[in-house]
Amino acid sequence: MKLLMFGKTGQVATALQACCPPGWHLIALDRAAADLADPEACAALIAGADADVVINAAAYTAVDRAEEQEALARRINGDAPGAMARAAARKGIGLVHLSTDYVFDGSGTRGWQPEDPVAPLNAYGRSKALGEVRVMAAGGPGTVVIRVSSVFSATGGNFVRTMLRLAETRDQVQVVADQVSGPTAAKDVARMILTLLPMLSSAAKPPFIAHYAGRPDVSWAGFAREIFRQAGHDVEVEEIPSVAWPTPARRPLNARLDCSLLAARFGIPRPDWRDGLAETLADLGIQPGRSGTAG
Ligand SMILES: NC(=O)c1ccc[n+]([C@@H]2O[C@H](COP(=O)([O-])OP(=O)(O)OC[C@H]3O[C@@H](n4cnc5c(N)ncnc54)[C@H](OP(=O)(O)O)[C@@H]3O)[C@@H](O)[C@H]2O)c1
Repeated sequence: MKLLMFGKTGQVATALQACCPPGWHLIALDRAAADLADPEACAALIAGADADVVINAAAYTAVDRAEEQEALARRINGDAPGAMARAAARKGIGLVHLSTDYVFDGSGTRGWQPEDPVAPLNAYGRSKALGEVRVMAAGGPGTVVIRVSSVFSATGGNFVRTMLRLAETRDQVQVVADQVSGPTAAKDVARMILTLLPMLSSAAKPPFIAHYAGRPDVSWAGFAREIFRQAGHDVEVEEIPSVAWPTPARRPLNARLDCSLLAARFGIPRPDWRDGLAETLADLGIQPGRSGTAG
């Protein structure tokens, strides 16, 4: 299978390059090769490519900075995916586009269904919601929007690496306890996409939205505790509410994603993020000593 991927250096893009099966051909485009701030240039690359499917693993992901740069975020996360979807549809190939739990407003406590109404609380979420609309409107058969959640890996900026950095100098940290999501290892996202792709291309399915997130759902504080436990750090986690940790962008409290569609239609279950965490720590050269459960 021949894959054309936008994004090369990001967490999911790096994992896709690491997990791509032998015999598959993956071309990864970095920002210099394909700048999503120029949507028509991205479309032209698809038009000229020899590919069976396009993966968009690039995005404007600086959630707080997006409050100041919403127009740029909308271009990268909204206009560019739309142009990619149109170009892929014209060529008769599918598009895997990644989106986010931050399209939801965080109300309630149940897991969000793919068809639930979106109501983003911040500029990043609005830009990603725009991308979803554009991709769903223009995408041809084999197009899928997959919302993922709280991605972590051994590379890039993410919560796991932040907690490990804090553990070097602190024996106590304050962590938000009222935002709940399903943390997801980038390698699990990559393996999910690679498992899904042959099923998408064989069945020429119309565009759809699906959710994929690690289980069990957990607060940032619970996630932090498990990171310290697995990494062998004796750091106390003090639980605080979101209001005690103000950020430029508001975050949804309930970011749980109902992931049953991928399980029911494609046999792809939610991954256990504690296993993904152990794998990530091993990638960082930290020997995990996992036992018990996160809270
Ligand atoms: N990270 C999360 O917690 C999270 C949660 C939910 C959903 N998601 C979604 O999952 C997907 C993958 O996220 P990730 O965590 O792998 O992202 P990431 O690690 O933040 O990487 C973002 C990637 O996008 C590239 N990029 C940014 N602006 C670009 C531009 N104008 N042109 C070309 N490339 C550009 C970056 O390239 P440079 O290296 O050049 O900057 C980088 O490769 C995204 O769609 C994101 O919205 C992420």
